[in-house]
Amino acid sequence: MILDENIVCPLTGVALETVDGQLTSGSGRRYEVSDNIPLLFVDETEGAPAIAAVTGSTGGQVTHAVQDFYEDAPFPNYNSFDNLAAFTRQADAGFGRLLRKQLPLNANVLEVGCGTAQLSNYLAATTLSRVYAADMTLASLRMGRAFARQNQIDGIRFIQMNLFMPAIRPQSMDVVISNGVLHHTYDTRKAFASISRLVKPGGHFIVGLYDWIGRLRTDFRRLLLKTFGDKVLALDPQLRKRLSPEKRRAWIRDQYFHPLERKHSISEVIQWFNEEGFSFVSSIPKILGTFGEDEQIFKPKSPGTSLDRVVAELGMLVSPSGGEGGLFVCIGRRNIASRR
Ligand SMILES: C[S@@+](CC[C@H](N)C(=O)[O-])C[C@H]1O[C@@H](n2cnc3c(N)ncnc32)[C@H](O)[C@@H]1O
Repeated sequence: MILDENIVCPLTGVALETVDGQLTSGSGRRYEVSDNIPLLFVDETEGAPAIAAVTGSTGGQVTHAVQDFYEDAPFPNYNSFDNLAAFTRQADAGFGRLLRKQLPLNANVLEVGCGTAQLSNYLAATTLSRVYAADMTLASLRMGRAFARQNQIDGIRFIQMNLFMPAIRPQSMDVVISNGVLHHTYDTRKAFASISRLVKPGGHFIVGLYDWIGRLRTDFRRLLLKTFGDKVLALDPQLRKRLSPEKRRAWIRDQYFHPLERKHSISEVIQWFNEEGFSFVSSIPKILGTFGEDEQIFKPKSPGTSLDRVVAELGMLVSPSGGEGGLFVCIGRRNIASRR
């Protein structure tokens, strides 16, 4: 089962049908399917004239450059020794456990920029959610799908798509997750707007981005790497873990040799939530107080003042998340009356 009512033609937004092993939309446009993955990637410039006028060819070129980068080194990749039990134990030790325990029952969950789909596979394996794992990099989706197949994980659909031209029905998802993705596009703000439209009124948007302060430790190591070479990598906490060579290579490339990355702040994302008709719910790092083991991530917290938020971000300089890439996560809830 690769199709359902939430997977649509990225150009017209209408439902797709299977004809002679291909997918077709009312407009006559046909899409291939490979390894049970619908290939619904469409270039920004192919979109409606209005979209092409906004993104221009530069947007499309950036998207393709980033796609080539990940086709060469799918991220985060799997260790050859990964199995479902070990993998679940590891995810259970972090944010994943809170997410799987607190997701609404039978939710539609979309991960945009899922990479090799660790989180999507974990959520599909441990919850009753219908999980959509979307990315533009086919090599990554294939790895995620192979892992799902080997471990008999059901309830997950893989989709190749461009997040600027989503192949998902607007307002159909209870939860949209995008972690470590939007800052690798030609425009983080436009990417945020594009996928926020997929969230149902009352649903949640979970977005993880590089933090302007939290990522300073990585920036510093990158600088040292240029001068002192590979031995500097020993300072990276992630690389002290047991990793297979492919996973190690994927991490080094993604963190130190990426063609495009930007950094953002919690305050910026709170503003974006407001502009897109969402209310701030919570964040990691937490703005006021400490993040508990059983933190209720979907329970609204105070956004604090802008100074409180900077103080929380400064804490990343000494926390594990600052050591491992410096991502902050914000959760917003789509306002019921939102018409965007
Ligand atoms: C750093 S990886 C993050 C993977 C995963 N979310 C994680 O946290 O491990 C970024 C991913 O975003 C995807 N990506 C970047 N731009 C995209 C776009 N325009 N449309 C769809 N996926 C995109 C890349 O293909 C890549 O797999």
